[in-house]
Amino acid sequence: MKTAIADLRGRRLWDSRGRPTIEVEVRTCGGGRGRAIAPAGASTGSREAVDLRDEGAAFGGFGVRRVLYGIENEIAPLLRGRNAADQQAIDLLLKALDGTPEKRRLGANALVATSMAVARAAAATMGVPLWRHLAQGGTVPALPLPQIQIFGGGAHAGGRLDVQDFMVVAVGAPDFPTALDWTAEIYRRAGDLLAAEGRLRGVADEGGWWPAFDGNREALETLLRAIEAAGRIPGEEVAIALDIAASVLHSEGRYRLRRDGRELDGDAFRELLLEWLARFPIVSVEDPLAEDDPAGFAAFTAAAGPRIQVVADDLVVTDAGRIREAAAIGAANAVLVKPNQVGTLSEALAAVRAAREAGWNAIASARSGESEDVTILHLAVGWGLPQLKVGALARGERTAKWNEGLRLAEDLPGGGALPPPGSFPWGRS
Ligand code: PGA
Ligand code: ZN
Repeated sequence: MKTAIADLRGRRLWDSRGRPTIEVEVRTCGGGRGRAIAPAGASTGSREAVDLRDEGAAFGGFGVRRVLYGIENEIAPLLRGRNAADQQAIDLLLKALDGTPEKRRLGANALVATSMAVARAAAATMGVPLWRHLAQGGTVPALPLPQIQIFGGGAHAGGRLDVQDFMVVAVGAPDFPTALDWTAEIYRRAGDLLAAEGRLRGVADEGGWWPAFDGNREALETLLRAIEAAGRIPGEEVAIALDIAASVLHSEGRYRLRRDGRELDGDAFRELLLEWLARFPIVSVEDPLAEDDPAGFAAFTAAAGPRIQVVADDLVVTDAGRIREAAAIGAANAVLVKPNQVGTLSEALAAVRAAREAGWNAIASARSGESEDVTILHLAVGWGLPQLKVGALARGERTAKWNEGLRLAEDLPGGGALPPPGSFPWGRS
């Protein structure tokens, strides 16, 4: 069998924050080779699968020796001889081998890199692009509509802004390449505006500008100005998406907005977000409330209305069961899909299916700690996820993904076509 796994090994590489991470490389009997690198979050949900690290002083405690030991001594012997083309069987083996619900024994970083490398090796052996190997059949492959970061804040910019991601969505773009063209102009204009006002401090972890704003509203106003300066019609051509990452702001029932000098309870915080929705052309809000406040999520989703996308990230951590629970109370209407939050590709795909059954949208997402690995773009295309979030249009680990999309735009049957407007909450009549 050509797709039988002949060899599997792990190695330590570096991620975009200069921390160690792991790559898994798989070779098949047919000579195919697949590699994948584990990403890592910073504003991680507390219920995410465990990103296993060494304790101790080396690399600030981010060492991966234990992870590599597990790959070499447990994962490799188990997977040798198994069929790389049977992703489901491989992922079940990985899950059973780890044996803990949180993947705390071998680490979700070991599992996700292995699971992705196996998929890549199978695709390479069969001579098909990864997105095609991952495709579930039935869906016409399209490139995802990008959510692209312009300003970075929260845990990705030393808390310099309370809200984590100020992003744009080119809702009126005719295709994927044009969505990137428009966004590039906005990114440039936003940087110029900051520089002119003496507020530019560099770039944050996901490549968005690291701004020295006095408040969150000022960030929204500047973003609006940048969209206009780039010659785009706000709301019609380009809209705003936010990731509040509210868990980071929350403690003991209160939300602390350091920049705005305010501390609000859940009700008042929701009111503030609704004020922003009324004032700015915002189409999507991620993690508006803390991860342990599903009722607050539900109240916000109901108040925002069906045309606003409310995205659950920390609340459901790419877990099918948690998505079903959240959907049952109307806690959101979309989910962020981050395979390393759950461990294996099959479990992430189960989350996508749970979201579809609930009528939720799905957004493939990279992490704040990334690498040149572009698997997430292929997942979005192969699994038919209509949106993708991988940070800014800057920094190599981010542009690697957008550039891969541009290459695929030349290969896909539909070219650079984006999903039809009806695929998105704001496009539904
Ligand atoms: P993280 O941030 O990768 O640091 O968790 C991304 C997000 O919150 O969406
Ligand atoms: Zn998030």
